[in-house]
Amino acid sequence: MKINFAELTSTTKDNVIVFLVGEDKKLPAEAQEIDKKANGLITKAISTNNFTGKKGKHLSINLAQGARADMLVLAGIGNAKKLDTTALENIGGGIVPVINNLRAKSATVILGDLKISGINSGEAAARIAHGANLRRYNFDKYFTKKTADEKPTLEKLTVALTNSKSAAKPYAELEALAEGVIFTRNLVSEPANIINPETLAEQCKTLEKLGVEVEILGEEEMYKLGFGALLGVGQGSAIESQLVVMKWNGLGKNSKAAPLAFVGKGVTFDTGGISIKPAGGMEEMKWDMGGAGVVIGLMKALAGRKAKINAVGVVGLVENMPSGNAQRPGDVVTSYSGQTIEVLNTDAEGRLVLADALWYTQKHFKPKFIVDLATLTGAIIVALGTSRAGLFSNDDKLAEQLFKTGEKTGEEVWRLPLAEVYDKQINSDIADMQNIGKDREAGSITAAQFLQRFVNNVPWAHLDIAGVAWSKKDSDITPKGGTGYGVRLLNQLIADYYE
Ligand code: BES
Ligand code: MN
Ligand code: ZN
Repeated sequence: MKINFAELTSTTKDNVIVFLVGEDKKLPAEAQEIDKKANGLITKAISTNNFTGKKGKHLSINLAQGARADMLVLAGIGNAKKLDTTALENIGGGIVPVINNLRAKSATVILGDLKISGINSGEAAARIAHGANLRRYNFDKYFTKKTADEKPTLEKLTVALTNSKSAAKPYAELEALAEGVIFTRNLVSEPANIINPETLAEQCKTLEKLGVEVEILGEEEMYKLGFGALLGVGQGSAIESQLVVMKWNGLGKNSKAAPLAFVGKGVTFDTGGISIKPAGGMEEMKWDMGGAGVVIGLMKALAGRKAKINAVGVVGLVENMPSGNAQRPGDVVTSYSGQTIEVLNTDAEGRLVLADALWYTQKHFKPKFIVDLATLTGAIIVALGTSRAGLFSNDDKLAEQLFKTGEKTGEEVWRLPLAEVYDKQINSDIADMQNIGKDREAGSITAAQFLQRFVNNVPWAHLDIAGVAWSKKDSDITPKGGTGYGVRLLNQLIADYYE
């Protein structure tokens, strides 16, 4: 889909013209003109269809032949005074399926002279376009028989405003961000026969063309370093485990500034290992590399928009399989930190992967902070559902920044506690710790406590994204499937507080 910005005065012909209408149902000037010429067609349609102008409501109206467009769509925007960047993105995203349902190829959204407090019209237009761009995404590469009338029709979307040039710069940055989000979604949606630790590492390599330095450690190197926790998880797989380090030096090659570090769980398939999962729903575990996917997409976005920061992304890539070589319940492994772990359940594998990746990140990069992301526990879905990620942190300032950025971007988080009482739950009878709690209580917290044992004296936050990495239904800017949740959140965190 092509996206462009045009002057309000341009009169290009499109299949659909879209007007934004608030709860006051006041029509923008150009819509009033159309309404007058067509003997009150729009005002009549508003009343017969009970169009309220509420956010997310749409009304489609056929126009007479010879009009500027074949159809007109009114898009409800609620209270225009309350619009923020996220609301604008949602408006742009919400329009896409409406236009596709009309089987239209081209559309112009008239932003007009809509005044939004705190947001200039260039930024507003860019946000609408960005939302549409994120929503038009689909993962359809494996359909071989879809006919044209089963595919989306929208090819060209224009946003019209006065001074359309002012949208170019904000949109360029948002487009780079969207490319990161879309890269994440693609990686997450790919099945595990296509994306495995080796092929995912190759995908990381593609970031080199954007100026990201990519280093890959294979099993031999990790064995030499003593990555006993990560390697134990991948031990049952026919495919080699990998640790990929991606560096974006936006402050220049010689900058000594401590990087911001992002660490991701990349279990390309989680069968549970010998503690095997039930068959029903196991296919979902192809997206157990969602945390790594976010880190990779984030690095792509940062490099794509040439962010003025130093960042390092570290992903631990393994496949958790049962086999004659697989790790057994009760095995004791020695992690890179030197601490020993009794593996009581081979399905609590993400924390084992992160243990070594976190320690490596902290030791080698002395980062300003570490944020890790992982589809870590089913328990976080029980606690928070599918709209918020679980946040755990040893640093109130970082936690607060993440919370605020979540509210702002719509990629929301909710903080849960870390404390001694939970930490005690993972003491083992025969090793420094065990990889599951002594009972089923507070499963997401005991998992986070485990991770905390692998970070020292560095601001750290853990995002448990098991509930948000994948969606079973469409929402305004996110079609169902891999969501890319986290890329926009962390990109904004960096832009607002660290750049
Ligand atoms: N990858 C799963 C967590 C998960 C579950 C992610 C559902 C997305 C959807 C993780 O490796 C896991 O299996 N966790 C176990 C931990 C338990 C064995 C302590 C869980 O949540 O049941
Ligand atoms: Mn598991
Ligand atoms: Zn897992």
